[in-house]
Amino acid sequence: MAAFHYQANQLFIEQVSVAELAKTYGTPLYVYSRSAIEQQLAAYQEGLGDHPGLICYAVKANSNLGVLSCLAQRGAGFDIVSIGELERVLLAGGDPAKVVFSGVAKKASEMRRALEVGIHCFNVESAAELERLNEVAGELQVQAPISLRVNPDVDAQTHPYISTGLKENKFGVDFRQARAFYQRAAALPHIRIVGMDCHIGSQLLVSKPFEDAVDRLLALVDELKTDGIQLDHIDMGGGIGVQYTEDDQEPDVRAYVGLLVERIKGRDLALVLEPGRSIVANAGILVTEVEYLKSNDEHHFAIVDAGMNDLIRPSLYQAWMDIVPVNKASVGQQASWDVVGPICETGDFFGKGRALSLQAGDLLAVMSAGAYGFVMASNYNSRGRPAEILVSQGHVQVVRQRETMESLWSLEATADA
Ligand code: LLP
Repeated sequence: MAAFHYQANQLFIEQVSVAELAKTYGTPLYVYSRSAIEQQLAAYQEGLGDHPGLICYAVKANSNLGVLSCLAQRGAGFDIVSIGELERVLLAGGDPAKVVFSGVAKKASEMRRALEVGIHCFNVESAAELERLNEVAGELQVQAPISLRVNPDVDAQTHPYISTGLKENKFGVDFRQARAFYQRAAALPHIRIVGMDCHIGSQLLVSKPFEDAVDRLLALVDELKTDGIQLDHIDMGGGIGVQYTEDDQEPDVRAYVGLLVERIKGRDLALVLEPGRSIVANAGILVTEVEYLKSNDEHHFAIVDAGMNDLIRPSLYQAWMDIVPVNKASVGQQASWDVVGPICETGDFFGKGRALSLQAGDLLAVMSAGAYGFVMASNYNSRGRPAEILVSQGHVQVVRQRETMESLWSLEATADA
C-alpha cells in the first residue's frame, strides 16, 4: 500500500498525518488516496496498450462520488448494477457511452433510463431479461446494445460467497445455451448484439481461471461467427485480487491485462474489463479509536469505535484484514488482541489474536478497506455511517459527511394514534 507509510512512527496517507485527520474529522473514518486509485486505473489502461478496450470500474466496490469523479476524469468507464449506480456515475461526470450494466434483476424502469442516457451495453443475464429488454427498447423505438453474460463453469478458487462462474451460481447463462441465446437475440428487432461477458469471481490471485474462462468464451465467439454473428467486444469482468495478508501474492495488473490481450489478438475484438477491488481496496483505510481494553484469563479484547456495521468483510467472509497502529510508538500493553467493535453480536470483530501494543485512546487503521467497505456499511444498532475523506497531494476533502443522528430516522414516522 504505497500511499500509506510511516514518518517518525506516525502513519501518513500521501503527505497527510492520519492522526491529524482523525482529530479533525473524528472516528470511525474512511480515508482514501486519490493517487493510489489513479495509479491502479493507469495500470489497467497501460496493460491494454493500444489494443481497443475499455476499463469499466465496478461501482459497487466504492461508489463515493469523489472516487467516481477521479476515475471519470481519467477516462474510466463504469460497470453498474442498479439505476442508483448509474445516476451516481452521471453525477460524477462519467460518460454514459462507457457504461456497462450488469445484474440479474434489471427492472424495466432501470432499462428505460439506461437506454435514454445511451449506455454502452447491457450485460444480459437470462433469456427472460433479453425479452424484456427488447420490449422496453421497442417502446422507446431504439435498439438496445447487448452482451450475454456467459457462465463458463470454471472454478475461480476463491471464497464460495464471491465465486460466481460456477454452474451452481445464479449468474449468467450456461455456456452450452449461449449459442441459442445469441440466435434469438439476432432475431429480435430492438436488440443489437455487441459483445460477450463473464465474471467468474472476486479476489482471484492466480490467472489460470481467467485463462480457462477466456478460452471458453473465445471458442464461443468463433462458433457465433460461423452463425454470422460478429461481436465487437469481449468483457472478462472484474475479479483480480489484492494483497490482504503477507502471504497473498498480488497479481501484476499490467501483466494480467497483457495476457488477455495476447489471447484475443487477431480476432478484431475490443477488451472490456470490470475491475472493482483492485482499483480501490489498497487506496483506503478505516481509522478507528480504541475505546476500552479488557482481558480475561484467555483473551485480550481491544474494543474499538468502528463496528461490523461500518466494515463487514471480516464478519461476513472471515476476511483477514491487516490492522496497524496509527502511532507505532504508542507505549501500551503488548499482547495478542482480539480487535472487536461495539455491536451486540459475537461476529463483530475486525481481527483476532493481533500482536499490538495498545492503550485506550490509541488509533488503529484497518488496511485495504477502500473496496467493499463503506458501500456495505449499514445503520445497524442505530449507528450513523462514518465520514469519508479523499486525500489528493496534501489536499484533504470530505467526500461524504458523517451521518447525523437526525438522518437515522428522517424517513421514518411514529405510528398513527
Ligand atoms: N463485475 C461483476 C459482474 C461483479 O459481480 C463484480 C463483483 C465485479 C465486476 C467486480 O469484481 P472485483 O474486481 O471487485 O473483484 N463484497 C465482496 C465482493 C463481492 C464482489 C461482487 N461482484 C467482498 O467484500 O469481498
